[in-house]
Amino acid sequence: MARKVKQADDLPKVKLTKTSLKSALRVFSYTGQHRWKLYVGLIFLLLTSATALLFPKLLGILVDTADPKKLDVPAANYIGVVLLVVLVLQSVFSFFRVYLFVNYTENTLANLRQAVYSHLIKLPMSYFAQNRVGDLNSRMSSDLIQIQDTLTTTIAEFLRQFVIIIGGVAFLAYTSLHLTILMLAIVPVVAISAVFFGRFIRKTSRLVQEKIAESNTIIEETLQGIANVKAFANEFFENKRYKRSTEVIVENAILGGKYRGAFASFIIFCLFGAIVSVVWYGVILAIRNEISIGQLMQFLLYSIFVGASIGGIAELYAQIQKAVGAVERVFEIMDEKPEVVEVYEQKLLEHRIEGNVVFQNVAFTYPSRKEIQVLKDVTIVANKGETIAVVGPSGSGKSTLVALLLRFYDPESGTILIDGKDAKSYSLTDLRNNMAIVPQDVLLFGGSIKENIAYGKPDATIAEIAEAARKANALDFIDSFPEKFETLVGERGVKLSGGQRQRIAIARAVLKDPSILILDEATSSLDSESERVVQEALDKLMVGRTSFVIAHRLSTIRKADKIIVIDKGSVLESGTHEELMSKESGLYRSLSRMQTEVI
Ligand SMILES: Nc1ncnc2c1ncn2[C@@H]1O[C@H](COP(=O)(O)OP(=O)(O)O)[C@@H](O)[C@H]1O
Ligand SMILES: [Mg+2]
Repeated sequence: MARKVKQADDLPKVKLTKTSLKSALRVFSYTGQHRWKLYVGLIFLLLTSATALLFPKLLGILVDTADPKKLDVPAANYIGVVLLVVLVLQSVFSFFRVYLFVNYTENTLANLRQAVYSHLIKLPMSYFAQNRVGDLNSRMSSDLIQIQDTLTTTIAEFLRQFVIIIGGVAFLAYTSLHLTILMLAIVPVVAISAVFFGRFIRKTSRLVQEKIAESNTIIEETLQGIANVKAFANEFFENKRYKRSTEVIVENAILGGKYRGAFASFIIFCLFGAIVSVVWYGVILAIRNEISIGQLMQFLLYSIFVGASIGGIAELYAQIQKAVGAVERVFEIMDEKPEVVEVYEQKLLEHRIEGNVVFQNVAFTYPSRKEIQVLKDVTIVANKGETIAVVGPSGSGKSTLVALLLRFYDPESGTILIDGKDAKSYSLTDLRNNMAIVPQDVLLFGGSIKENIAYGKPDATIAEIAEAARKANALDFIDSFPEKFETLVGERGVKLSGGQRQRIAIARAVLKDPSILILDEATSSLDSESERVVQEALDKLMVGRTSFVIAHRLSTIRKADKIIVIDKGSVLESGTHEELMSKESGLYRSLSRMQTEVI
C-alpha cells in the first residue's frame, strides 16, 4: 500500500491526473437514484454564476447614468430595481444549489460508506493481519469526510469559479479588448505557478493525513490496552511515543503551511499588481475617451472577479487533489478480494454438517510471516461427535489449527476434509454456520446481554435465549441483575467477570447449535470456582458435537476420545489419556506429571 502511494507521486503529472481522476470518478457510481439532484444542482450553479456575472455589467450601466452628459434619474431607478431582482434571484438559486448538492452528496456518501464497510468486513483474516485497525478506521472516517467536503462544496465552488473566469473574461473582452489583453498577460504566470505549488501541497497534505492516522493508531492501541500500559508503568514511554508522532505531524503540517503561505502571498501580489496595472491603463483609456467611467468600473469589477476566482481555484484544486488521494485510499479497500460469504439477516442452516473432520497432512505458514512454517504435516482424524483435545506448549500452533478449521486461512498444503469433502468445497457461510467457538477472551459487543447471546442466532426468540442462558449456567447471574436480559454490558453497562463472559459465549454457542465446537483455552483464565461452572456448561454443550478442545490444564481433557500432543507445529503423540500415559518417555506423560505435582 505504502509502495503504491510513493509511485503515484513519482509518476509524471499528466499520467497521475488521468489515473487518479479516473479512480476518483468511481465515487459517482455510488450515486444511485440521486443523480438528478446533481444535474438540477448544476443548473442552479450555472444560474448563480450567471447572475453573479450580471452584477458588474449592471453596476457599470448604473454608474454611467451619472455621466454629466446624461444625468438620467429614471434610468438609474430602473437599473436599481433590476439589480434588486437579480439579487433576490441569486439568493434563491444559491439556496437550491447548496441544498441539492448536500442532499446529493450525503446520499452518495451513505451508499459509499455502506459499500466500503460491507466490503471491509468480508475481507479475509489475512487482510486484517496486514492492516492496522487505526489506519482502516481513518480511511472510514477522515478520508470519507474529505470526500464529503469535496463533493458538497469544493466541486461546486470549483465549477462556479470556472464559469466566472470564462464568463468574466468574455465580458472583459467585450468591454475592452486592449485592457483584457493586458490582464491576460498576467494570468498564465499565476496559473502555471498554481499547478506547480499544487503538486507540493498535495504531497504534503497526504503525508500529514498519513501521519495523523499513525498517531491515532497509537492512541487506539494504548487505550485498548490501557491496563497493560499501566501495569507495565509505561505511561512515560507511550507519552513519548505519542509526543514524537504529534511532532512529526506538526513538522509536516508546517511544511505544508509554508508552501500554502508562499502560494497565497504570490497570488495576492499578482492580484494587486493586476489591479494597479489595469486601473492605470484604464484611466488612460478613459482620458482618451475610448471607454466610459462606467465601463472602467465594470472592467475593474470583472477583473477582481476573475482574479479572485483564479486565486481561489488553485486552493480548490489542491482540495480536490486531496480528495482524489482520499478516494484512492478508500478504493484500495474496495479493490481487495473478499472472502465469499453470504450476508443474510437470518442464518439458515441449509446444509447441516455431520461433523466428521480430518486434517490430512496439513502444512501452513502465515502470509504475513512467511519465514516460519507454523504447522507441518499435521494429520488428525475426528469422527462425528468425538471430543478431540489438543495440547502443547504456547506458540505450538493450536490456535492456528482452529483458524484453519474456521477457514480464516487455507492450508499451504494438505487438505481439511469435512464429512469426507474438501472444506474448500463448502461455502464459507455454510461452514461457519455449523461451527461455534468459545475463545479464551470473549468479546462482548456494547449492547444488552440478550443481544450478545442472540449473536449466535439473530432471530432467536426470548424464550430460546433464556433457555440457552440456562444451559450455559448463566441464568443465575443474569437474573441477579435488576434489568436481567436487558442489562447493558461493556462500556456503559455492567462489567462482567471472565467466567460470566465465558458463559455468555457458551449461550451464544448453544443457540447456534453447531455440529463442530471449538473451545480455545475456554477456561484457562478462570479461577477454579468459575472454571467448575463453566466446565459443567461446556460438558453439556459438547454432547453430540465434534469438539476440538484446546486446553491448558490437562485435568480437564482426560475423558477426551483422543488427545493430540502438538509441538512446534508437528503432532508428536496422539491417543487416549490412558494410551499416552502408558508411553514411558512421552511428552504428555511428563506434562501431566508436572501439572499434578504443581496442583
Ligand atoms: N496472525 C498471525 N500472523 C503471523 N503469525 C502468527 C499469527 N498468529 C499466530 N502466529 C504465530 O504462529 C505460531 C503459532 O501460534 P498459535 O497457533 O497462536 O499458537 P498456540 O495457540 O498454540 O499458542 C506462533 O509462532 C505465533 O507467533
Ligand atoms: Mg492459542
